[in-house]
Amino acid sequence: MGLGYVGLTTAAAFAARGRTVVGYDSDPARRAVVRAGRAPVQEPGLSALLRRAVRAGRLAVADDPIDLARRSDLVFVCVPTPSRSDGSIDLSYVRAACRTVGGSLRKVRGWRAVVLKSTVVPGTTDGVAGPILARASRRTLGRTLGAASNPEFLAEGTAVRDALAPSRIVLGVSDARTEAALRAAYRGFRASTVVLSPTAAELVKYGSNAMLATRVSFANELAGLAERLRVDVYPVMRAIGLDPRIGPRFLDAGPGFGGSCFTKDLRALLAQASSLRVALPVSSGALSVNASQAIHVVDLAERAAGSLRGVKVALLGLSFKPGTGDVRESRAFPMLRELLRRGARVRLHDPEAGPSFVALLGPRPGGRVRLVPDLASAIRGADLALIQCDWDSYRRAPVSLWGRLARKLVVDARRTLDPAALARSGVRYVAVGR
Ligand code: UGA
Repeated sequence: MGLGYVGLTTAAAFAARGRTVVGYDSDPARRAVVRAGRAPVQEPGLSALLRRAVRAGRLAVADDPIDLARRSDLVFVCVPTPSRSDGSIDLSYVRAACRTVGGSLRKVRGWRAVVLKSTVVPGTTDGVAGPILARASRRTLGRTLGAASNPEFLAEGTAVRDALAPSRIVLGVSDARTEAALRAAYRGFRASTVVLSPTAAELVKYGSNAMLATRVSFANELAGLAERLRVDVYPVMRAIGLDPRIGPRFLDAGPGFGGSCFTKDLRALLAQASSLRVALPVSSGALSVNASQAIHVVDLAERAAGSLRGVKVALLGLSFKPGTGDVRESRAFPMLRELLRRGARVRLHDPEAGPSFVALLGPRPGGRVRLVPDLASAIRGADLALIQCDWDSYRRAPVSLWGRLARKLVVDARRTLDPAALARSGVRYVAVGR
């Protein structure tokens, strides 16, 4: 239920492992695209996997929710859970999906289980989804109806690999029949399976994202100290990560984390904790370090340039990480705002995300911002370049290009470029954590 990014990747992965999958989305256009074996979202490898599944007859699209309920034992709910303005989670799509699936289950016979894959705050399966499903279906939980949580851990850009070879499978279940059905669905996926209560499984999802976000913020915190100590934080973090208790990943300092998940999930976790009168100072610290990190990058640029008033800045890389056109929560937004506040004129460039970034800027930010189509024209006429996202095309650009910056200055928030090569071309290099 829900053929977005998570629903489609999950469906394609189950089909690849030999399960028969039926999908449904309330958007008829989306249903038609998937039925034709195409992916309506951008994700490496997803189109090929979908095409194969549809051709092999293992992935079909239902015409309506009753058809979906009739043809499946397990219904995975994969609908969006956006943030409300106070940071708490908006469960309206989850509630609506549960009402629809529950209502459809009234029309079909035999046991069914409904599994939440959408990221939801701990307690949602037991406290919200289960009761709605039971009411709408007129079934009894634990008898003819199961309700479970099965969080996903897909990262954009590697979602297909993450779905086919998950780091772990977390099953949040309350009854043996639902557990058995979920274990059968995951047959052939070689990963440790952890069986928990639904609320504990939901907490695993938030805890994982909070942990990863905290590691990034910790690296950024240490980066600030390293800058003052005049040491490079990158080899320091590599050495720290060699401790097997710590591990090497998610320790890269940069402009802070972006993307649709970390910020949203941390805010939702904090909102829930606060409603329960529990303080989460570490998670809240991870979020506030992240908010100041983007401003810190602009500070680095200002310090290197003297002042930013009237300075022409090429802001390079607008997506939240390379390999995606997704700009949600991209650090380029606060960086741009801060650059403008300090009087800079900004040329924006991104190999993929330019139009979607500009579309989200809101009311025209005035004549001081311009989107340019290629790297060379972003650099031509700019005083300095500020790299927010480490696209390969920036890394591969000839060193001489950076030498065309009027002030021969690059501020690199992601360690994209080789400082030695730039120094040979007479370009000054300033980077986060160095
Ligand atoms: C994240 C998690 O990695 C997934 O496991 C999770 O399933 C997903 O959220 C979700 O909840 O849906 P994603 O947001 O796609 O996935 O992106 P990440 O690769 O985790 O990167 C998040 C941000 O952290 C990016 O802006 C990235 O540049 C930044 N980051 C990451 C760093 O600044 N430093 C690092 O060392 C690693």
